[in-house]
Amino acid sequence: MPNPDKRVTTLDLLEAKRAGRKIVALTAYDALFGRLVDESGVDVVLVGDSVNTVLAGQETTLSATLEQLIYHGRMVRAGVRRALLVVDMPFLTYQVSLEDAKRNVGRVMQLTGASGIKLEGGRAMADTVRALVEMGVPVMGHVGFMPQSVHALGGSRVQGRGANAEARIVADARALEDAGAFAVVLELMPAGVAARVTEALSIPTIGIGSGARCDGQVLVLYDMLGLNQKFQAKFVKAFANLEEQVRAAVRQYADEVRQGRYPDSAHSFEQ
Ligand code: KIV
Repeated sequence: MPNPDKRVTTLDLLEAKRAGRKIVALTAYDALFGRLVDESGVDVVLVGDSVNTVLAGQETTLSATLEQLIYHGRMVRAGVRRALLVVDMPFLTYQVSLEDAKRNVGRVMQLTGASGIKLEGGRAMADTVRALVEMGVPVMGHVGFMPQSVHALGGSRVQGRGANAEARIVADARALEDAGAFAVVLELMPAGVAARVTEALSIPTIGIGSGARCDGQVLVLYDMLGLNQKFQAKFVKAFANLEEQVRAAVRQYADEVRQGRYPDSAHSFEQ
């Protein structure tokens, strides 16, 4: 278990890669789960724009807004003391112009208290990443399957199969490293491709659906808790079955209320 008194920094992640220590990351969208995840000793808490699909019930992340991410980022900040807090930049908040990107990223940093942001894209985003890093903002990149490009990529599909596709991912990840990103998420690619990207970089790679040879792993919290079973993907492992526990608890509550067994005297006040 990591030292509970020391805040995780981007330099700690770099050091973890050098030392061969795996980095543990999870998403959170509110203060309660932020606190539980933080107290359980993860290194990075990501306020992902997946909040738009997982919590807000939308089909893709494309309709997530800056206000939404700031709102959830502030909540998570209230629960996270030790882990590095990273907030996702939603679609259209950093791609239109450099000026836009700087202003929107600045707002996220200022209003959420995050220690860094994440954005999607490789070489196409290198100049933006460089400008943000020069502005003093730690940037996490994201290559491979990029949910904000789901339509262009033809759906949620494994990326990087074949020599050309692999070379493009390596070039994208290298461009992010050269631009000053402190880490890069590798989403949905064959394990061998992710391993070779990881070897090619001196900054840490955080994998999701990309095999075990990344420097760290990230999952959506609700998926790994078995609380989002509507979403089925090969790479997701449910470490608990909370969906079933929630249904069972609600059924029991309903039965007890209907049968007049709840509230009993132990849960009522006397005169
Ligand atoms: O939005 C998100 O939750 C993410 C991660 C799972 C990488 O981008």
